[in-house]
Amino acid sequence: MTPHPLPEHEIRRLRAVARDEAHLRSLVERRLDGEPLQYLERTAAFAYLDLVVDERVLVPRPETEGLYELACRLASDPKVIVDLCTGSGALALSLKQAFPAAEVHATDISADALDVARLNAGRTGLEVSWHQGDLFEPLPDSLRGKVDLLVANPPYVAEHEFEDLPVDVKREPRVALIAGPTGLEIVERIGAEAARWLKSGGVVIVEIGETQGEAAAACFDGIPAEVRKDLAGKDRYVVGVRP
Ligand SMILES: C[S@@+](CC[C@H](N)C(=O)[O-])C[C@H]1O[C@@H](n2cnc3c(N)ncnc32)[C@H](O)[C@@H]1O
Repeated sequence: MTPHPLPEHEIRRLRAVARDEAHLRSLVERRLDGEPLQYLERTAAFAYLDLVVDERVLVPRPETEGLYELACRLASDPKVIVDLCTGSGALALSLKQAFPAAEVHATDISADALDVARLNAGRTGLEVSWHQGDLFEPLPDSLRGKVDLLVANPPYVAEHEFEDLPVDVKREPRVALIAGPTGLEIVERIGAEAARWLKSGGVVIVEIGETQGEAAAACFDGIPAEVRKDLAGKDRYVVGVRP
């Protein structure tokens, strides 16, 4: 057999370069195909945390960081915090970091999303109780009337709006985006039940679509609710305090 013309250590280095190039090329192809950049990097920054994200969860958005900041301003020393529709755990974990003494509960209907949230809890060392199921349904009954701060960034896109979403948004889980025919279905269900879980003086903050303000605020039974804007000046949050 003819010996290879190159020394062994150089062959190894060149093969490593070829592997890196192939990896980079595949990342470029996936991005060109519309995959969100954060899925390729497997990480997204949220508030003071770096979170793992992949195709099992929505990429946390700056608007939701706005919800986090609003919550930190409006809640004073909350003892019990609930995050509905937690996804990667962004809000639940950031609020636990902001209020370390609070008991934090988070729910999501997707077992896959909760796997990512648990991974993020492990990486950040922040303790949250994760519950799989529909909105309030998996929460312990003992929390009824005890919640100081209730937050949610639920799905709020209408079915008919899906096709017009940007290509990379359409790659995120459909269950994280679409609420139903009108887009308000999940917000309506949160609004109908929030008062039963909040204590008197407890605060609820829910992220909404920019055209949903008036209709969303009207969904909150027994809680005077108002609409707040995001940094772009768009209606983005419904905020209420249980009397
Ligand atoms: C818009 S994403 C928000 C994720 C995360 N809170 C964030 O802000 O990045 C909505 C999340 O709600 C979950 N979800 C959808 N319907 C639900 C339901 N009925 N009950 C609980 N979670 C639900 C989805 O699985 C998804 O993780």
